Amino acid sequence: MSAQHMFGDPSNSSSQPNPGPPSPTRSTHRADSISKHKLVQITSHNQYTSPRLTREILAPSPLEQFRTWFAEAQSPPNGLPAVAEPEATCISTSTAAGIPSARMVLLRGVDERGFVFFTNYTSRKSRELIANPHASMTFYWKEQARQIRVVGTVEKVEREESESYFATRPRGSQLGAWASQQSKEIGETTLQDRLDKFEKEFEGKEVDCPEHWGGWRIDPFEIEFWSGHTSRLHDRFRYLLQDNGEWKIDRLSP
Ligand SMILES: Cc1cc2nc3c(=O)[nH]c(=O)nc-3n(C[C@H](O)[C@H](O)[C@H](O)COP(=O)(O)O)c2cc1C
Repeated sequence: MSAQHMFGDPSNSSSQPNPGPPSPTRSTHRADSISKHKLVQITSHNQYTSPRLTREILAPSPLEQFRTWFAEAQSPPNGLPAVAEPEATCISTSTAAGIPSARMVLLRGVDERGFVFFTNYTSRKSRELIANPHASMTFYWKEQARQIRVVGTVEKVEREESESYFATRPRGSQLGAWASQQSKEIGETTLQDRLDKFEKEFEGKEVDCPEHWGGWRIDPFEIEFWSGHTSRLHDRFRYLLQDNGEWKIDRLSP
C-alpha cells in the first residue's frame, strides 16, 4: 500500500479521504519482518483507585453525570486531585470505508444538543466527518482514574455560534485559522508566508471567522463512564438512548 493510500490526498474531494483497506501484499510483508522488530515491553502494573461508581449515585441523564464529573475534574472534592485540561479529548472519526483515525481536540461546550469542538472544515477529521457523520470522543482523566466515551452522530454547529466563539479567540489564533490549511502537506515556509500575508490583509481590522473554520457537534446516543479500580476490576456504566428518548443504564463488565 502506498503512503497516498494510507493517508489519503488532502487535495482530494471531501467524500473519500482515505480509500481502501490495507492490501494483502502489505500484510504479508509485515508478518515477514515482524521478527526483526525490537519489542518495547511494558510490564508496569499500575493500580487505579477512583471513588466507586454505583447505580445509586449515577445521574439519570448522562449529560448530568458528565457535568458532575467535569466539575469534579476542574474543582475536585476532598481526596481527588484536579485534572489538568479536562477539556482535552480524543476524537475518533472514520472514512466512509470504515478506516478510523483519532486525534486530540478541545471540548468547547456541552448541552442537551451535544458536545462541541472547533476545527478547520477542510481538515482530515472534517473530511471524514462529512463522509461518515459519526464520531466518538474519549476523555481520559488520569489524575482521577476516570474515562468517558461519547458516541454519536455529528453535525456542523450553526454559523452564528462558530462566529461568536471565533470572536473570543486571541488574535494570533484567529490569524492562525486563516493561515493554516489544516492537514494539507505544505512546504517549509508556507505557513509563515501565509501568516505574513493574512497579518497584512487584516492589519488595523478585526479578523473575520473564515468560511473554512467552525464547530462540530456530536449528538450522543451512547455515553459510558469508567472508573478505575484495583486488580482491573473497574466500574463501567453505559447510557444508551432509547427510541422513546429515555436513557437505559447498564453496568458493563470491566
Ligand atoms: C491537547 C490538544 C488539543 C487540540 N485541540 C484542537 C482543537 O480544538 N481543534 C483542532 O482542530 N485541533 C486541535 N488539536 C490538533 C489536533 O490534534 C490535530 O493535529 C489537528 O486537528 C489535525 O487533525 P486531522 O489532520 O486529523 O484533521 C489539538 C491537539 C492537542 C494535542
